Amino acid sequence: MNRADLSTIRAIFDAFSDPLLLLDAVGTVLRQNSSARRVLGDVAGAKMSSVISSPQILNSVDAALRGETPQSVELVLPDNIDHTYNVNVQPLYFSARPGSPRALVTLHDITTLRRSEQLGVEFLANASHELRTPLASLLGFIETLQGPAKDDAEARERFLEIMHAQASRMTRLVQDLLSLARIEFNEHVAPTGTVDLLLTVKQAVEQLQHRATSRKVVLQLSAPAHVPTLRGDPDQIMQVCQNLIENAIKYTHENTPIEITLTQEQGQICLSIRDHGPGIAREHIPRLTERFYRIDAGRSRHMGGTGLGLSIVKHIINRHRGQLQIESELGHGSRFEVILPIPDEEVTHAPSR
Ligand SMILES: Nc1ncnc2c1ncn2[C@@H]1O[C@H](COP(=O)(O)OP(=O)(O)OP(=O)(O)O)[C@@H](O)[C@H]1O
Ligand SMILES: [Mg+2]
Repeated sequence: MNRADLSTIRAIFDAFSDPLLLLDAVGTVLRQNSSARRVLGDVAGAKMSSVISSPQILNSVDAALRGETPQSVELVLPDNIDHTYNVNVQPLYFSARPGSPRALVTLHDITTLRRSEQLGVEFLANASHELRTPLASLLGFIETLQGPAKDDAEARERFLEIMHAQASRMTRLVQDLLSLARIEFNEHVAPTGTVDLLLTVKQAVEQLQHRATSRKVVLQLSAPAHVPTLRGDPDQIMQVCQNLIENAIKYTHENTPIEITLTQEQGQICLSIRDHGPGIAREHIPRLTERFYRIDAGRSRHMGGTGLGLSIVKHIINRHRGQLQIESELGHGSRFEVILPIPDEEVTHAPSR
């Protein structure tokens, strides 16, 4: 191998994004790439046993140096956040140096994979728990109606009403879960339809008017005369408007207004929903869009909520390349703002408020 070949191989070795270590026949680090230097520090010349103390990995190194191909091993390196690596050790034979092999150690970062697996498990546990609660209640009522309350017409009426509410809750939960799965599945596919945001907001306000009235809440809409047509999925944008306005109605104080405002500026349109309710403590705000996250789960559940609303909103807005901003202070109400891009062909309209 000539000098040029060697420097090419070194450049490739260095450019590899996974940390790589080349070990000599007795397990000393001959060479490390820049990624390995970032993760493990400067370990050139050190014995492998002083670099990584995991007995499984050291066994793998011994096996590779005997010419065997060992199984990969998982390793957690404590960092700012723990990073999990899949560590692979391969025997390497060099024709210029016959005899016992050297070894190449590769650390492949699988932190994101493990995290998403964990989120999947948590999600399943939460979803099962949410379904189990109304199911247990339904079973309880069925057993009571079959037994002690068999001939009690008044109890039957009352229980059937509760059972109806619980079954509706389960239906809603399943619908929301399906809706979320569909939206997440399509999140990377840009929507191709068109949306009249002003009309959509007006329709959402109309649909939720009776709920607002029953909480003595006034919905105040303020918008410019002309709102540009957006690129988007009309049903999904409707879902965003409904969820945010519904939340404001549900969580605000009675006898307070909710201000719904549409403004246009610099190539984007902003929908703001401002309530004068109890507000949200700072520590909850970043977590509100997590699936099933509720500040007061009992209260939300009592109001028929599944805790999936804002998660659905967030994914829809992501799909529309928009942003969701939440500002709130305890005792001072909340403002949920949806910012959506105006397609290029529409930006020519003069901004108006
Ligand atoms: N305007 C608001 N004011 C105060 N708290 C709010 C407001 N909007 C949302 N929240 C809090 O955020 C939590 C999550 O909202 P999200 O819409 O995801 O779920 P939900 O309303 O409980 O259920 P769902 O939307 O499925 O009916 C709510 O449970 C509530 O605690
Ligand atoms: Mg909600």
